[in-house]
Amino acid sequence: MTGNDWDPDDYDEGHGFVHEHGQSVVDLLDPQPGERVLDVGCGTGHLTAEIADRGAEVVGIDASPEMVTRAREAYPDLTFERVDVRSYAAERPFDAVFSNAALHWIPGPDHDAVLSTVADALTGTGRFVAEFGGADNVAAITDAVGAELDARGYDAAHPWYFPSIGEYAPRVEGHGLELRLARLFDRPTPLDGGEDGLRNWLGMFGDEFFAAVDDAERDAVLSAVEERLRPTLYDGDSWVADYRRLRFVADR
Ligand code: BEZ
Repeated sequence: MTGNDWDPDDYDEGHGFVHEHGQSVVDLLDPQPGERVLDVGCGTGHLTAEIADRGAEVVGIDASPEMVTRAREAYPDLTFERVDVRSYAAERPFDAVFSNAALHWIPGPDHDAVLSTVADALTGTGRFVAEFGGADNVAAITDAVGAELDARGYDAAHPWYFPSIGEYAPRVEGHGLELRLARLFDRPTPLDGGEDGLRNWLGMFGDEFFAAVDDAERDAVLSAVEERLRPTLYDGDSWVADYRRLRFVADR
């Protein structure tokens, strides 16, 4: 949703844990037959399809054309639109808005636009069920990359928005949504790819971190980041990312 380059093949083949973990968010949504559900940041559409399998009528939206193309190829019977949630206007109201592992890509100041879209999309009794990266999500990784880039003279800001409950709850409620559940929890997440898992993860998601680093130096940066993190995040078989999830349910 920001300046990351999205590669749907890499996303599906090397990072399937994203939608696998999202199953539990679909369980929390508990879509009912006949309900209309909006899936925000649907990516390659696997959770959209899971929601449809439970009998709901679902629309998946994503800002990435590559992701939407792949979702349409994979699920030609479902509806996907390439649109940014900040400017999305629903043609007909929805019973629920769902989002998994997407909203942290939208800068903090823009979440009022996100929440306006959500509130406008819902009917009087609708619900918003979402999970994304919460406060201090992947902090060990962002700290290590930041320190390594800083040591080499690069700007080291990361592009993601990871709010606490205390920060995000008033924003949700300020848009006429009543929070029924809010939870921030650790979810250490084994990355696919064994020894290469961390560099693959940074390759998939970390484009903005490395935008100013040329290809020749990037490999050295990644090796140095691995050495900084190996004692804490590598268990001998896999890299285990220090994910923290912010999960909530809010009613219109
Ligand atoms: C996350 O799902 O928490 C996440 C994924 C990629 C980059 C940053 C955070």
